[in-house]
Amino acid sequence: MAVSDIEDSYAEYADWMYRLEWLDRIVTGRYRQARFGDVEGRVLDVACGTGTNFRYLPDTVDLVGIDISPEMLANAAEQLTELGIDGTLQEMDAQELEFSDDSFDAVISALSTCTFPDPIAALREMERVCKPDGTIRLVEHGRSDIGPLATYQEWRADAHYAKTGCRWTQEPREIVSRAGLRVRDIDTGLFGTFTTFEITPDRGDER
Ligand SMILES: C[S@@+](CC[C@H](N)C(=O)[O-])C[C@H]1O[C@@H](n2cnc3c(N)ncnc32)[C@H](O)[C@@H]1O
Repeated sequence: MAVSDIEDSYAEYADWMYRLEWLDRIVTGRYRQARFGDVEGRVLDVACGTGTNFRYLPDTVDLVGIDISPEMLANAAEQLTELGIDGTLQEMDAQELEFSDDSFDAVISALSTCTFPDPIAALREMERVCKPDGTIRLVEHGRSDIGPLATYQEWRADAHYAKTGCRWTQEPREIVSRAGLRVRDIDTGLFGTFTTFEITPDRGDER
């Protein structure tokens, strides 16, 4: 799917996703808390969606959220108000971030690389805008390491992609590795369907 198709798809689901966010948090909250709970300074949330990550960030951070979908961002704005957070939101393509190099102390993103048409470009953009002594944190989903669950995911993958633009059997480790990012810590959970990363920016590396 092209970026515009994905934008249309999320326009349809944005309000529904925000209403059911509590359910998402029951499943993903512990992973978000563990990866995002200690970031500091100026923080960019890439593909922030309805702002599910926001409540897991320390209240001292200077938060900027970007997403391609105005409808998701409208819900993210409501989330900021509800949580009393003074953040900034911008409509932007994660694959071409409109920020200078080294703009952020931390770049975070959750459940996003599965929907980017070019996830490698988006990951490299995250690295570009992150300060050299900053940190990139990801919470991603992918193929389970439990056979029957992986088989079910494979069976549903095409229909799921056609409906949502999400490649839910994508392997996050493979994407991060192909982007040439330097992983400092990695963890998995929920039958291998969640993989979380702490990444150290290293733009000097040969790719
Ligand atoms: C599954 S949602 C995840 C939202 C949020 N990060 C979360 O954890 O709940 C995927 C998000 O990626 C956004 N997205 C997809 N492609 C994008 C792109 N090229 N640039 C920016 N955002 C994009 C969608 O609009 C959607 O909000």
